[in-house]
Amino acid sequence: MSVNSASSKQTWSAEKYSEHGRFVADLAGAVFQWLAPEAGEKILDLGCGDGALTQKIAETGADVLGVDMSDDLLSAARGRGLSVRSGDGQALDFSAEFDAVFSNAALHWMSQAEKVIDGVFRALKPGGRFVAEFGGHGNVAAIVTAMRAVGERRGGEPSLAGPWFFPSTNVYADMLLDAGFEVRRVELHPRPTPLKSGMKEWLKLFRKPFFEQFDEESEKVLAEVEELLRPSLCDARGNWTADYVRIRVEAVKPV
Ligand code: BEZ
Repeated sequence: MSVNSASSKQTWSAEKYSEHGRFVADLAGAVFQWLAPEAGEKILDLGCGDGALTQKIAETGADVLGVDMSDDLLSAARGRGLSVRSGDGQALDFSAEFDAVFSNAALHWMSQAEKVIDGVFRALKPGGRFVAEFGGHGNVAAIVTAMRAVGERRGGEPSLAGPWFFPSTNVYADMLLDAGFEVRRVELHPRPTPLKSGMKEWLKLFRKPFFEQFDEESEKVLAEVEELLRPSLCDARGNWTADYVRIRVEAVKPV
């Protein structure tokens, strides 16, 4: 999902995402089971990215539409033969069209969470379900803290280290209830995530705007952040693990 925040724009390259971010779709088994798509259902995949999961949903026989803001990822999804369109998850304009709205690893990019939830609620038919997984409270906390520390030491803008929305279960459940949803389940799961491509590639893929602020020093800043993280997130064999925490939700629009 590409996103515009006040101070930064995160953009995605489909090629880089496929090379270093494939694990995002690969690890989505549980939320996919929660969705349990059925043939003939109309499903919206919010923040569909390159369509890896959208395709899995389509393979069940469901009629799925993917929405994302990244043109590069959308063309990769179109290349899979999927039905997708460009759109901002914070300004959805569907009305009672879908049996389910699904989202994996995208909602933490959308800081206006109330607008997202309201748009999802409107998009669902009565009785329709909202099933999503994204970063929960404490997600990548060590990584963000290391970036903030190095950013402050170098006189940079530390807030560029973490623009994400990582709510706790209570906060998110209350937001769903306020919007009119019935909340079926909201769970927080620590999910230490092996980074096959290493920490530097993760940082470059997910937090480019933070490093770009240091211009020609950005490679040095990247190395400093990596070194700060090494004792806690890299094992004796050089394998990196990110401190992911997921929030998984299922809520229903009352009939
Ligand atoms: C996540 O999927 O948890 C995530 C993605 C981008 C940045 C930080 C976290």
